[in-house]
Amino acid sequence: MADSWSELKQACAQCTRCSLGETRRNLVFGDGNEQARVMLIGEGPGEQEDLQGIPFVGPAGKLLDDMLEMIDLDRTKVYIANMVKCRPPRNRDPLFVEQDCCAEWLRRQIALVDPAIIVCLGRIAAMAQIRENFRITREHGQWYTVNGRSYMAIYHPSALLRDPEKRPETFADLRSLRQQIRTLCPEVYANG
Ligand code: URA
Repeated sequence: MADSWSELKQACAQCTRCSLGETRRNLVFGDGNEQARVMLIGEGPGEQEDLQGIPFVGPAGKLLDDMLEMIDLDRTKVYIANMVKCRPPRNRDPLFVEQDCCAEWLRRQIALVDPAIIVCLGRIAAMAQIRENFRITREHGQWYTVNGRSYMAIYHPSALLRDPEKRPETFADLRSLRQQIRTLCPEVYANG
């Protein structure tokens, strides 16, 4: 059965596949342009995201917005979702079992958005979406084709807040992203 956004959001809001829904304040489903050619995938909601029900609105989110602005993107041009839709207690990494329980929602979001380009934010998203043994320190900024889509991973904005020395490498990755967008979906930049 073909999904619609409203059906998918409603079903996701009622999900009880893992226990994260019991402690969350709000579901953090996704944000941005549902027809975007570029999709960003993070790890899971933090405190601010849990409070507001929107991905990447805390300190890491502010940095992410700045990173997007550097290559003339914003949330009207991309779609942002996380691997897990409910906040893991005390911001711990989502467990594999929680990632597995939630994977189906992300898979259906990707199918609905149908982006040409997917950017994994950090190691956890890259290991789930690109390759299980993905090494973010060595393989960030490289392009991979998975199921006909173009994938790249960059350092998670939280990692860039902790370790600003990683920022120059990330600027280079962002320039590569801009180039890939110009090649695969130039319409993203066509209207200013
Ligand atoms: N970190 C993430 O991975 N996702 C968010 O939504 C916020 C912080």
